[in-house]
Amino acid sequence: MSHGALLPAFEACFDAAPTHVSRAPGRVNLIGEHTDYNGLPVFPMALQREVRIALRPRSDGMVVLRNTNPRFSPVEFEIGPAIPPGPPGTWGNYARAPANELARRYAIWRGFDGVVSSDLPDASGLSSSSALVNAVGLALAHINQVPVDVRAFAALMADAEQYVGTRGGGMDQAISLGARDRCAAKITFDPVRLRHVNVPDDWCVVIADTGVRAEKSGAARNTYNLRRKECEEAFRIVSGHVATARITDKLLTRWPDLVAAIDADTLVAIGEEVLDAKLLRRFRHVVREADRVETAIDRMYAADTTGFGALMDASHASLRSDFLVSSAELDELVAIAREGGAAGARLTGAGFGGCIVALADRWTVGSVLETLVAEYYECRNITDRIDDRLFVAVPSRGASYDPLR
Ligand code: GLA
Repeated sequence: MSHGALLPAFEACFDAAPTHVSRAPGRVNLIGEHTDYNGLPVFPMALQREVRIALRPRSDGMVVLRNTNPRFSPVEFEIGPAIPPGPPGTWGNYARAPANELARRYAIWRGFDGVVSSDLPDASGLSSSSALVNAVGLALAHINQVPVDVRAFAALMADAEQYVGTRGGGMDQAISLGARDRCAAKITFDPVRLRHVNVPDDWCVVIADTGVRAEKSGAARNTYNLRRKECEEAFRIVSGHVATARITDKLLTRWPDLVAAIDADTLVAIGEEVLDAKLLRRFRHVVREADRVETAIDRMYAADTTGFGALMDASHASLRSDFLVSSAELDELVAIAREGGAAGARLTGAGFGGCIVALADRWTVGSVLETLVAEYYECRNITDRIDDRLFVAVPSRGASYDPLR
């Protein structure tokens, strides 16, 4: 997206020129789904698509936002540590979230006028909402001279987003802030760390949108929060058993302690002994998925497309059958991508709708794209804005705050 349309839009709204642009990309998660809120690693990359805000600092504490998308009505609020939220699910809450959290921690007082624009499809599992949180947060931090150390700021933005009522993990904020060009990143938590891994030049990461919206703060929220609770419960039972049965004498206070102390097969066997059927499925997904993340990173270093693809397939199967966050449309897109020649495919993001990610290479990508168009989009008569729904992701750099002149 160029600054082209954004600057005149700002001038038309505010009758002055913007001084800065704050931008933050969306992301696609390659593998490691529903692991971040358990403190376990994820392996996403940032996209070439992003949220951009052309802005001008104000001399009072108001944040005044307009959106170039007419679906999103104007938002205005005053910065403070207890900002009343707008109606649940509305975009303004993702702007209030970082203002609220920054004001709880720092004496910030200065707002801005801004025009927001995005070429990320919203509610598609590509983190358009966290990109907005980051772009607003970064702007407020710079305007108010709050220090921005990427790793600490990523944790702060993840806390900030809890404001919308979804108990998300920290993956989206961290990759959107800290990503590097041409790289995916292994992200670990508490504290946030990023290890950058070059995506092999001939790998093509295909994103395909089901067209079924997956509002993180809407209908999917309760199931998402429930999964988090189920994981906490499974951890409590298994770690309690491990301690009582003295399977290890290491202190197990968090998921990462557990998966570091005991191998995945043994953990699943323990789970089979002590968990009921439902919690066992959630537990098994998390344990196996954490394992897959480590293996997948090795496969990327080795430029092993087939090996990486097989792990994506296994991740999808587990998300579908054990974690129960897939949908008929996601399963269909995954199957079509595989039929078109993808090395592997899986749902990406929270699930319940939104997008899949498929791995192809430069020789197979044409056939993967064509098969998806013919067998998913054309069958549903979806012919408009096809490039928004189906595209090849370019691993891109993280967020920035830049002066305009
Ligand atoms: C959403 C959340 C992330 C992560 C994924 C599932 O995108 O925002 O923190 O939990 O779901 O992996």
